[in-house]
Amino acid sequence: MSIIENDDLSFDEFDEIDNPGPEVTGFDYVVEAAASRRDFLKGGLAFGATAFVMGGTALTPATSNAAHHAMGFKPVGISTADTVTVPEGYKWQVVARWGDPLWSDAADFDHVTRGTAASQARSFGDNNDGMSLFQHDGKDILVVNNEYTNRSIMYGNRESKLPETQDDILKGKNAHGVSVVEIMQNGDDWKIVKDSKYNRRITADSPMDITGPARGHDLLKTKADPTGTKSLGTWNNCGNGRTPWGTYLACEENFNGYFSSSDENYERSAEMKRYGVKHKDWGYAWAKQDERFDISKNPNEPNRAGYIVEIDPFDPSSTPKKRTALGRFKHENAEVVISKDNHVVVYLGDDERGEFLYKFVSKNKYSEGGNNTNLLEEGQLYVAKFADDFTGQWIALTPASTGMTEAEIAINTRIAASKVGATTMDRPEWVAANPLKAEAFCCLTNNKNRGVKPNAGGDETPVGGPNPRAKNNYGQIVRWEPVSGNHADSDFKWTLFAIAGNPTVHSDAYAGSKNITAENMFNSPDGLVFDSKGKLWIQTDGKYSNKDDFAGMGNNQMLVGNPETGEIQRFMVGPKECEVTGATWSADKSTMFVGIQHPGEKGDSHFPEGGNAVPRSAVIAIRREDGKAFG
Ligand code: FEO
Ligand code: CA
Ligand code: CA
Ligand code: CA
Repeated sequence: MSIIENDDLSFDEFDEIDNPGPEVTGFDYVVEAAASRRDFLKGGLAFGATAFVMGGTALTPATSNAAHHAMGFKPVGISTADTVTVPEGYKWQVVARWGDPLWSDAADFDHVTRGTAASQARSFGDNNDGMSLFQHDGKDILVVNNEYTNRSIMYGNRESKLPETQDDILKGKNAHGVSVVEIMQNGDDWKIVKDSKYNRRITADSPMDITGPARGHDLLKTKADPTGTKSLGTWNNCGNGRTPWGTYLACEENFNGYFSSSDENYERSAEMKRYGVKHKDWGYAWAKQDERFDISKNPNEPNRAGYIVEIDPFDPSSTPKKRTALGRFKHENAEVVISKDNHVVVYLGDDERGEFLYKFVSKNKYSEGGNNTNLLEEGQLYVAKFADDFTGQWIALTPASTGMTEAEIAINTRIAASKVGATTMDRPEWVAANPLKAEAFCCLTNNKNRGVKPNAGGDETPVGGPNPRAKNNYGQIVRWEPVSGNHADSDFKWTLFAIAGNPTVHSDAYAGSKNITAENMFNSPDGLVFDSKGKLWIQTDGKYSNKDDFAGMGNNQMLVGNPETGEIQRFMVGPKECEVTGATWSADKSTMFVGIQHPGEKGDSHFPEGGNAVPRSAVIAIRREDGKAFG
C-alpha cells in the first residue's frame, strides 16, 4: 500500500511532515529580531504585557451589565496521571466511548479486533471533538463530531498497525463523521439510550446535498455525480456549531489527508497544493477501497470537502447540507451569533499555519419561530485584516475584490482571501462569542512557522499584530469587539486576552502574558466555549512532554477564563496523550459534557477502562457533587 508508515505521530506532526510550506527564498527572517523581550514589544504590541489582558488600555473597559463572577472552584494542579482530574466537590463519569453500540443489535466493543466495518457503522465513532446537546420532545440528543482515527489504535490488531483489508478501510470510514445519540440521566449518571429513534451515524459515505454558490459548479462535478450537487460523506469534523433554529454544524477540517493518487506522475493543480492534497494520504488508504479518493481519477472530489455541514438532529432521515457559502478551507468551528439587525453571523477559523480568520453574514434575516432553514445558503463571506494599532477590518470576498466568481470564492476561499491581503494567523482554532457582550475570542493555537516561512499560498507571516512571537510554540487567544457593538460591523478593535507561555522557563515574551503563571500555565489553546454565565472555557491540544519548554504543564487540560479580569484557572486535566475538546451543557446547567480525544495517541494510555484496555476517546459528564448548576 502506498501509505506512510510513521503512525505514532500526532495529527499535527503528520500535517507538518506531509504538508510543509514552500521552500523559502529571500524571505526576511525576523526570528532573531523577535527573540528578545524588547524587540517583541517593538513588533507591534506597544502596551506591554499588561495591555494584553482585558481591562487593560487597548479596549474600552468592561461594561457594567456583564456578569462579574468568582470562578467558584478550587483550581487543580497539573497532572500526568492516566485519568481525569476535576476540582474538589466535582465528579466525572464516561457517557459514550468509541465503539459503544447505539443499537441493541450491534456488538459491544471488542478490545482484540477493535470492531469491524459493520459494528463500527452501528456504534459511536472515534476521536470525538466538537459537540452540542439538544433538547427535543423532552429528550436529550447529543450530536458529536468524530474527527479522525489513530491508525495504530484502530488497527492495533494488525501487524502493520494500518488497514490491511477492505473491511479495515471501511471500518475507518465508518468511525469518521458524526454520531447522533439520545442520552438520559439514570440517577446522577448519563448513559446512551440504545435504539432511540434519534440515534444516527453519519459516516464518510452518507449522502449530502451541496448548497449555496458552488452548487452545480463544474469544479464540483465528478463521474459519480455529474450534477455537482450531491456528495458522499463528511470526515475530519473538528469543532462544531449550533444554530438558534436547532441545527448542528459539523466543520470539515483536514479533509486533504484522505486523498491519494494511484498515478505517481499525476500533476497536481495549484489549488490542490494550496489545500495540501497530495499523492499520498495520511495512512487511511481510502482510495484502495473507494476510487473517489484517488485524485488522478477524480480530481474534483477534493473540491467537495472542506465545508460547513448543517444537520437536522431531530430527523434521522434528513440529508445533511454542505453550506458552500461559508467557504472551503480547513474549518475549525462555526460560532453563530445573531447581529443587532437580525442577520446570522458565523465566525470561522481556518486551522493551518498562516491561514485566515473568516466571518459569514447571511443575506436574509433570522426570525424567531419563523422558517430559518436556509439562512446559511446565501450571504457574504469576509476575512479578517488586523492592524498593529489594535484595529481591524472584515474584508468582503466578492468578485470585485478578488477577480473570482462567487462559486470560485466558495470553493477556493483561501486563494480569494490571499488576494485581498488578509492577515496570516497562528492557526485559528475555535471562536467563541460572549453571550453577555458583543465580543468574540479565537484560540491561535501555535505556529512554528511564524516569522520563518510563508503559508502554502506564499503569503508572508511576519511577526506582529495578534501573532506577536516568532516560532510560536505556545499559542495565544485574540479578542475582538465590533466597533458599534454589532457583530455585522465591518470594523473591530482587538487585543490579546492571553499569551500562553512558560514563566518557569522563560523571562521574555515566551513567558506569556501577565495572566499566565506557574500555577495556570498551558500550551496550544484549541477548544473555546462560553457558558451561559459568560465564563470562557479553554481546552488545550498541546505538547504533554512536561519537559523543556513544556516543563510543569502536564497533560492537556481545560481552564476557565474570566473575560472581565483576565483571570485564568485550571479546572480539569485529561488523561495521558489526550486532547481535551468539545463542551456542551445539560438544559439545567448541572452537567458539563467534555470531550477526551485521542488518549494514548502515542501508545501510553489505557483510558478510560484501565488495565490493558485499548484507549478510547470518550465524552465525559462532569457534575458538582451537590448537583448544583455550574455553567
Ligand atoms: Fe482539529 Fe484544529 O483541530
Ligand atoms: Ca481543534
Ligand atoms: Ca489543535
Ligand atoms: Ca490533537
